[in-house]
Amino acid sequence: MAVVTNLDPKRRKTTPLDDLTALVSDDLSAVNELILRHMHSPVELIPQLAGYIVAAGGKRLRPVLTLASAGLCGYRGENHRMLAAVVEFIHTATLLHDDVVDESDLRRGLASANAVFGNKASVLVGDFLFSRAFELMVEVGSLDVLRILSRASAVIAEGEVLQLQTSNDTETSEQAYLEVIKGKTAELFAAACRVGAVVAGRPPAEEVALYDYGMNLGIAFQLVDDVLDYSAKQAKLGKTVGDDFREGKITLPVVLAFRRGNDEERAFWRRTMEDLEQADGDLERAQHLMARHDALRDTVERARHYGAIARDALGLFADAPVKRAMLEVIDFVIDRDY
Ligand code: IPE
Ligand code: IPE
Ligand code: MG
Ligand code: MG
Repeated sequence: MAVVTNLDPKRRKTTPLDDLTALVSDDLSAVNELILRHMHSPVELIPQLAGYIVAAGGKRLRPVLTLASAGLCGYRGENHRMLAAVVEFIHTATLLHDDVVDESDLRRGLASANAVFGNKASVLVGDFLFSRAFELMVEVGSLDVLRILSRASAVIAEGEVLQLQTSNDTETSEQAYLEVIKGKTAELFAAACRVGAVVAGRPPAEEVALYDYGMNLGIAFQLVDDVLDYSAKQAKLGKTVGDDFREGKITLPVVLAFRRGNDEERAFWRRTMEDLEQADGDLERAQHLMARHDALRDTVERARHYGAIARDALGLFADAPVKRAMLEVIDFVIDRDY
């Protein structure tokens, strides 16, 4: 099992995400216990594979958002912990499936589960985690929560399938790209935040505000993820830089560079991303063209735009430490380098 790098959170300097995580740290420890307890199965390969990706770390951003949203809504019970665990189960399942689809061999600084255990095991354990998430939701017993998170799961799958349909098409529009990332990524952020208001029994306006915060934060998150795929330091990112290029995934940096390029540049994008005829130095050329046309810079600018919408969505909540930390997370998502 190839250990490429370890994302040790202790080695990082404090980030705004750490501030929010610290505010919900007791809850988050309980969530981590719930995750470990509920991924158990007598079929050994299940806890083995699921335990592998869970132990590899990850930011736990989505469950932290569920806990924080419930806190922002003044919730005092314990059901939000189970919901946060459910959200991370759904996220983990999508990662297992996504790495098979994307043929990625690095995740969270380690060889991906598909690289270690194979595609079949990854897909099946992903299915198990999805199904277990639904069992746990039924335990919580809120039909509204079940409705929101089951809808989110369907929308994520739709987003991934839509992405499959637009992959390798250099003429993909910014609009079409946005539809994909809203589905595959932002909807789970939105649902993770929304269920915080639901479990606290808050009125629809607060539910919608948290949904909008999560949706726009999630869009910003994926925009930056797509920038990092071209610009990050691999050891810091814990994923393979250039994965999107190699598989011909049309993300906003490509959409912008393609549209701003000349005929010869467009021929380059068609050869590499549509025909997948790639040679040594092509990734570097792609990065160079993106720099020439400010494609990465402007993708981050788009992320700032959605970040500003997320900020305004929280406007109706009273000032509180958790609100301030949720606002700071917007900056973290945009300025992060991992
Ligand atoms: C990865 O999400 C999948 C995307 C939506 C880009 P994260 O970057 O939150 O993954 P982990 O959980 O921290 O590993
Ligand atoms: C996010 O898209 C996919 C999911 C929502 C699981 P990516 O394919 O860009 O995510 P990474 O880069 O592999 O984490
Ligand atoms: Mg991927
Ligand atoms: Mg990515």
